Amino acid sequence: MRIVAISGSLRADSLNTRLAHAAAGLVPAGVEVEVATLQGIPLYDEDLRSEGWPAAVAALGERIADADGVLIVTPEYNYSISGVLKNALDWLSRLNPAPLAGKPTAIMSASPGMFGGVRAQDHLRQILFGLDARVLTRPQVIVNLAADKFQEDGSLSDSMAVELMRKLMEALTRAGGDQDAINVQQTHPRWEPARARAVGGIRGAGQV
Ligand SMILES: Cc1cc2nc3c(=O)[nH]c(=O)nc-3n(C[C@H](O)[C@H](O)[C@H](O)COP(=O)(O)O)c2cc1C
Repeated sequence: MRIVAISGSLRADSLNTRLAHAAAGLVPAGVEVEVATLQGIPLYDEDLRSEGWPAAVAALGERIADADGVLIVTPEYNYSISGVLKNALDWLSRLNPAPLAGKPTAIMSASPGMFGGVRAQDHLRQILFGLDARVLTRPQVIVNLAADKFQEDGSLSDSMAVELMRKLMEALTRAGGDQDAINVQQTHPRWEPARARAVGGIRGAGQV
């Protein structure tokens, strides 16, 4: 069982990247979590895309397609998700098949503010709805006042948040294991990079 965790922040000392790593340590035995970076993903440009998929986009798409589940950890920028994350989701939505379509997906957020990124989570859910991801609804993991909650070793001092994170990662693991049972793969064919590269501009499941 493999989960890919994506942080919507690029900065080295990101609270959200720290949260992604903390979540990676809270999975059931036998589950492997790989924290992926959005570094290297260019700004979406249809002209650039028509020249071929940027390597960082194709690599992220492959990692997501090969994973049983995805965790997205988002910062809150002006009551929404970061532009970096929206940009990456826009690229991913254009791959065909779109690797997030039908994929069990959990979300979390961390912010130094009082509201912990809850408003960004609402926007993220809406966007993931457009990508046809299978977004888990509970528990909701919102880490507020996060600048003071990470220890030197990367662990989180907020015991309630840790408990909710553990439950969410367990739910994601269960949803990942259920995929075959609900025939997700039949509804959403597996991502094939070679095919996607050949298909070029054809749209994935995110199209409206
Ligand atoms: C452009 C910008 C807008 C922001 N808007 C919000 C906001 O609406 N709500 C909030 O809680 N924090 C906001 N913040 C503060 C971020 O939550 C904070 O910088 C956080 O550390 C970013 O996540 P990171 O640590 O993972 O990089 C904003 C920060 C920036 C740079």
